[in-house]
This record gives sequence, C-alpha cells and structure tokens, in this order.
Amino acid sequence: FYDDKGSKLFQQIMELEEYYPTRCEAEILSKCGAEMAEFASGDKFNLIELGCGDGAKTVMLLDSLIKKNIEFNFVPLDISQAAVEFLLGNLEKKYGEIPFKVQGLVAEYFQGLGWLTDNASERNMVLFLGSNIGNFNKPTALRFLRHLWHSLNDGDLILIGFDLKKDLDILYDAYNDKKGITKEFNFNVLDRINSLLGGNFKRENFQHQGLYNIQTGAMESYLISQQKHSVHIEEVGKTFNFEPWEAIHMEYSYKYLESDIQSLSSSTGFEILKNFTDEQGYFIDSLWKVKK
Ligand code: AVJ
Repeated sequence: FYDDKGSKLFQQIMELEEYYPTRCEAEILSKCGAEMAEFASGDKFNLIELGCGDGAKTVMLLDSLIKKNIEFNFVPLDISQAAVEFLLGNLEKKYGEIPFKVQGLVAEYFQGLGWLTDNASERNMVLFLGSNIGNFNKPTALRFLRHLWHSLNDGDLILIGFDLKKDLDILYDAYNDKKGITKEFNFNVLDRINSLLGGNFKRENFQHQGLYNIQTGAMESYLISQQKHSVHIEEVGKTFNFEPWEAIHMEYSYKYLESDIQSLSSSTGFEILKNFTDEQGYFIDSLWKVKK
C-alpha cells in the first residue's frame, strides 16, 4: 500500500472527517504527551518510530520531550522515502535548527528491528502509532511483538496505538469515506501491480467495500469483482479468473478491547505502564515497559 503515492493517499485519509483514529490519537498525544515524557525521562535514549508516515502526531510528543529537556535521538522509519523526507522537511520548518539528533530510515519494520539490535545499546523507546498494529492478524502481532521484545533491553519503552472496538456505523464510515479516498488507496495497489508487474487490472471491474468481520473483530477491505472477467499478470505468468462478486481481500484493520491489549502485552513480555485514551474512548495509546 505504502509506495509514495499510497503514502500520500493515506495522508489524505488521515484528514478525512470520517477517519477518527488520527484525531483521537492527536488528542491523546497533545493531552498526555507531558505525562508520557515523564516516563521516558532519565539518560539519553533512542526514539524509534516504526511507520512514521508524515509524523504529524509525533511532533506533539517531541515537543513534550523538548520542554522537559529530555535528550534523545529521533529515528523515524518508513517504507516510503517520500514520507521520511516530508517528515524531515517538516521538522526543519518547525524547529529551524532541530534540537535533537535525527536519523531517518527508509526500511521495512523488520529491518528497523535489525537497526535496533545493532544500535540499541542505550535506552530505547519505540513508537508504533496510528493503529499500525491493526494490519497484523493475532499470530503476526504476537510474532512481531516478541521480535520487538528481543531487539530491546530491559526497561525500554514502547508506545503502541490501538483502535478500539466501537459502534459499527462509525467504523463503517471511517473505512468507506464519502470522497472515495479509501477506494483510491485500494485501487493504488492494483495500479502498482499493473505498472510494476505488467498486470491488466481495470478498476471499473471492481467495487470497493470496507466490512466489519464479527468473527475476526477487524475491518476488512475488499475489492469486489463486478462481473466475470480475467486479469493477466505478466511477471508472474498467471491469469486470474474472477467470478461475478468474487473478492480480493486487501487489508485487515483489527480492532481491540482493553482486555486484548492486556493479554497481548503480558504474553509477549511487556508490562503496561499506562493506557492513555481520548475523550470518546475510541482509541488507546498504550505505554509498555520491556521486562527481561
Ligand atoms: C495505517 C493501518 C492504521 O487500518 O486504519 C485506513 C490504514 N486503511 N483506511 C487503518 C487504513 C484504510 C490504517 N492504518
């Protein structure tokens, strides 16, 4: 999803009225940033952000750290180079001379964890915001968190954003926006397959729909074929036949209960220091400590 175009589209999603997670998390970080910074105070540390995107919400936490004179190196990591450059540009615009060390990384999550293993001699705090964890199913989330635990030292902190289970109409609107940006975000993946792998997907053959799956507890995005047709993808040498109403599953966005967060942290070696939530109780930024 997150090539430069997809990252731009996701930035547009974050500005949508219907897409509440960004607003909720911004509220949490601006309201509770100072308290979070208090937990991080002490010796200098690495602040690593996995999937930083444009970092618009992160600066709220950075501001709180600066105010408290807490020393840190900021390491924003994203799969999109344009997103990392955009973030670095924003930091320069905002601070002039940036009052902390910054090292942007263009990489995937697991490469980021590799960076941690090689460089995490000091204290570390990992940010995994925006409900990015929602893209993982349960086994993958567990594996990811265990891997993260292994890359960190005893006492290190992580701040993870979880989107909570809520009224289905609110979820439905957030993933089926009126302007159709979420639809574009999904079609962008087909465009990429066409251009990178020589596919011949036609977007008019598909309808986009985000659906809540009661069994999995996730919002799931689908592109649903509108008629019988076939798609050939040159680079894989395969033809895919679609029946009418047959769907491509594009994305998971798992939604959590507070009790899920509790069991996820304890089964992966972390202790919850505090759950920070927004006024409406839609979202939790959960602060965890590594226990070794
Ligand atoms: C970036 C994974 C948090 O699941 O809410 C938004 C991506 N997809 N609208 C999410 C997304 C459709 C988003 N995350």
